[in-house]
Formats: sequence, C-alpha cells, structure tokens
Amino acid sequence: MTVAKENAAMAALEFVEDGMTLGLGSGSTAEIFIDKLGELVAGGLKVTGVPTSRRTADCAVEAGVPLVDADKVKAIHLTIDGADEVDTLSNLIKGGGACLLREKIIANASERMIVIVDPSKMVDYLGAFPLPVEVDPFGMALTAEQIYAALKSTGCVEAQTVLRQMKDGSGPLVTDGGNYILDSRCKKIPNVADTALALSQIPGVMEHGLFVDLADVIIIGEQEHVKIMELSRE
Ligand code: 5RP
Repeated sequence: MTVAKENAAMAALEFVEDGMTLGLGSGSTAEIFIDKLGELVAGGLKVTGVPTSRRTADCAVEAGVPLVDADKVKAIHLTIDGADEVDTLSNLIKGGGACLLREKIIANASERMIVIVDPSKMVDYLGAFPLPVEVDPFGMALTAEQIYAALKSTGCVEAQTVLRQMKDGSGPLVTDGGNYILDSRCKKIPNVADTALALSQIPGVMEHGLFVDLADVIIIGEQEHVKIMELSRE
C-alpha cells in the first residue's frame, strides 16, 4: 500500500500554495506527505506547518518544514491528514494513531481539509475499525459505561470498549494531551451523526474519532493513479 499512499500524498501537494499555513496530520500517510512537502520547501516553497502530534512535529523538523505552534495561529488554510476509514458520505474514523483530539481541533479550524488514503480505507459503513474515543483518565470506567450506552442508543448493535495499551505492554497508552483512548468495536455505526452527537455530550469524553462533515477533498491513492473527490460544503 506504500505506493498508493505515496500517490495520494503527491496529489495532495497540488493543493498547496505558496504562503499557506498548513495543518499537518498524523500517521504514516501524513508523514509521507510531510517528507514530500519538505522537498518542495527545500526548492523554495514558503509554507508553515501546524503539527497535530509530537511525532508529526519531529517528522516535519526532519523534513525541513517550518513549524508554528497551534497556540500562535489564528487561521489555517489547509489541513492534510490520513484516516482509518472513509464512508460514502466522506465521514471519517480517525485516531488509530491516538492523535484524534489535536487532529480534530486543527481540521475544524482549517478552511479546507484534504484526506489522503489508500483504497483499503474506503468503506460502505464506518465501524469495522474500532472507534477511538479520547477520554480524561479521571472516572474512566464511568465514562466507558456512558460511551457504551451512547453507542447502543444510537443503533450500534455491538459496542465492546477496550482501553488502548502501549504496544510494549507497559500500560495504558497516554495521548500527547495526557488522556487515554477507549476503542469501541462496533463493527457498524449506522447513524454516524447521531453517534457523534451522543459521544460529544459525555463529560469525560475529550473528543471522539468520528469526523463528520469535516473533509472537503478525499484523495484515494492507487497503484497507478489517484481518484480525487471534491465535496461541496455550501
Ligand atoms: C492518527 C490518525 C491517522 O490519520 C490514521 O490512523 C491513519 O493512519 P495511516 O496513514 O498510518 O494509515 O487518525 O490519529
């Protein structure tokens, strides 16, 4: 899938203009984009990146992309990010890399969001990928119960929720913002907007991985070419 991701990342570069402030997403596809953006910067392109994670910031520094702290910007022209799933309405599941809170802050503040994916991310219904929800560690078991109830009440037949662990087994994964991630295995989320709203109303939920009506362009990289879907959000 690397060639597909590279093709998607290359196509996204076509949307970048001199002088732009860019939201830089997180994950392997976003990192490919950042590497390629760095090559353009070395050739004279003037852009400033707003990273959505510490790892992305490190990647941008290595690629030579100038950065500005999210606290210092008032507007972002364009965000380029990956996704874990994209449905037929261009709603997304994000957060496989545990960066969903910062990714959503940046995407929501951007004039446009471009999502770069390989074809494996395209689905008829969201939910086969476990839905990440970033939660405050305080009272997490109570929040988990509320998440389960919110998923069930909005039509998810399955909603088993697990606390994401570090890959090395050292304990719960802690996000850049100091929170935990609860992953809910729904298999299918039939009413995405309802589920998104219900999750947003739970006090311990910092943010959830459903990105509804945020993507403006979906770029699907394939082996030989790319498919570009531009959406109208009027
Ligand atoms: C990180 C994300 C990523 O965009 C998502 O996990 C896709 O990653 P990749 O490009 O590595 O497949 O949401 O929180």
